[in-house]
Amino acid sequence: MSDEQPPVEITVYENGPAIVRGAYKLQDRDRKEIDPGRETIALCRCGLSALKPFCDGNHALRGAARSAF
Ligand code: FES
Repeated sequence: MSDEQPPVEITVYENGPAIVRGAYKLQDRDRKEIDPGRETIALCRCGLSALKPFCDGNHALRGAARSAF
């Protein structure tokens, strides 16, 4: 039996968030770990979320996400 965890998978949605799945580690800019309390997260790419770094759906309510990539 392998102890390897599945690779982290990031799916970027056009005009929406980046969905992160797998054994990711999320940190702030001071490298302090952020525990979102779940295995799959949606990261805001538009800058409109009130819950940054997480997506709160505002990209859909307030217009298209300003995609960085
Ligand atoms: S991508 Fe969803 S609120 Fe920014």
